[in-house]
Amino acid sequence: MLGPGNPLFYDEPVHLVRGEGVWLFDADGRRYLDCYNNVPCVGHCHPKVVEALCSQAGTLNTHTRYLDEHILDYAERLLGKFDESLDRLMLACTGSEANDLALRIARFNTGGEGFICTNATYHGNTAAVYQLCSIFEPFEGYGENVRMVSWPDSYRALDGLSGEALGDAYALQVKAAIQSFEDNGVKFAGMIICPIFANEGLPNIPPGYMDKSIGYVRDAGGLYVADEVQAGFGRTGAWWGHEASGITPDLLTLGKPMGAGHPISGVVGRGDLIDNFRRSEMYFNTYGGNAVSCAVGLAVLDVIENEGLVDNASAVGDCVLQGFKELQSRYEIIGDVRGRGLFFGMDLVKDRDTKEPDAVEAKRITNEMRNRGILMSKIGEHDNVLKLRPPLCFSTENADLLISTLDDVLAGKAGK
Ligand SMILES: Cc1ncc(COP(=O)(O)O)c(C=O)c1O
Repeated sequence: MLGPGNPLFYDEPVHLVRGEGVWLFDADGRRYLDCYNNVPCVGHCHPKVVEALCSQAGTLNTHTRYLDEHILDYAERLLGKFDESLDRLMLACTGSEANDLALRIARFNTGGEGFICTNATYHGNTAAVYQLCSIFEPFEGYGENVRMVSWPDSYRALDGLSGEALGDAYALQVKAAIQSFEDNGVKFAGMIICPIFANEGLPNIPPGYMDKSIGYVRDAGGLYVADEVQAGFGRTGAWWGHEASGITPDLLTLGKPMGAGHPISGVVGRGDLIDNFRRSEMYFNTYGGNAVSCAVGLAVLDVIENEGLVDNASAVGDCVLQGFKELQSRYEIIGDVRGRGLFFGMDLVKDRDTKEPDAVEAKRITNEMRNRGILMSKIGEHDNVLKLRPPLCFSTENADLLISTLDDVLAGKAGK
């Protein structure tokens, strides 16, 4: 009924029927440790979130053309977590919609069309946003209003450079892309990047790269749009992914963990940009900002705060990273280990000197971990980076189980 092309994880797909905290249960009652799902950031089916959802769904749920306090309470709480220059919120339902809206706001304010993205990214599925996705190519190809730059990979580094020189070299690609727009008569609007380059494979960003590339964007009259759909809500051990660079975006987009599974997303931005847009452009979203979504969003913020999940992501994240580095010291196949908070990338290689990616082993390990009750996935330009992003309530005991199971799988020990 669903047609072909509906992507499923694993050679033997998993049929899940229940979730609780960091655990997922399949139809046969088998338990899996969830090391993959960033959306249920507070843990699967968190009782406080479920209660907020049920209670508001049983009271009233309309849309934002009627007065409602939930959206104001939510906007006030959420905006309080950003730099004071980011003082407006517009709500939608998916990360794709939020990015689509951010593009509209940026294009409206700059009068430009041209957008820069990286060459191994994903920002969503609308026609406009899909033009800025490079891990899948749109059938119609890319328009003249899109330029791609290399993501700032410091492991397979551009021209073998390192440090500031590497950051400079990648940033110069941004400058060249802006020049190319100008040469082709396309007015520049901005650059959209995930501030931790999550879909690219979570690189260690070379020094100076963010400052310089965003400097080039702003000098040319463009806007910096940070896609925080994956990086936001404590994932990196800080509230927002962009905090690490110290650069406040002009617009940023939120999604996935925002509703811990309930579809809510948003654009946060500078008041001048959003007010200017709203004064003349129509934007209404039937479900965006409804009372149930806002009640859920508030409950998610409450749980993250009350359970100290941002600090937990940082502390447990450090333990996992240490454990992965120890595995790296024993297994040649692990070329590079990267991590921020509870988000990890393990770059698998056939040879540490050539750094030739090992996508086959990444697939085998992902499947074997699933067979042993641990869910994770893989990502990156070469599909060889093990990707782990457990719910933020992940504990050190969960970390021990993950690391010891991965150790067994890397060692090729027989499954239990
Ligand atoms: C960085 C990033 N932005 C945007 C999206 C799109 O979000 P959604 O699937 O909710 O539309 C994704 C989805 O994977 C993503 O990874």
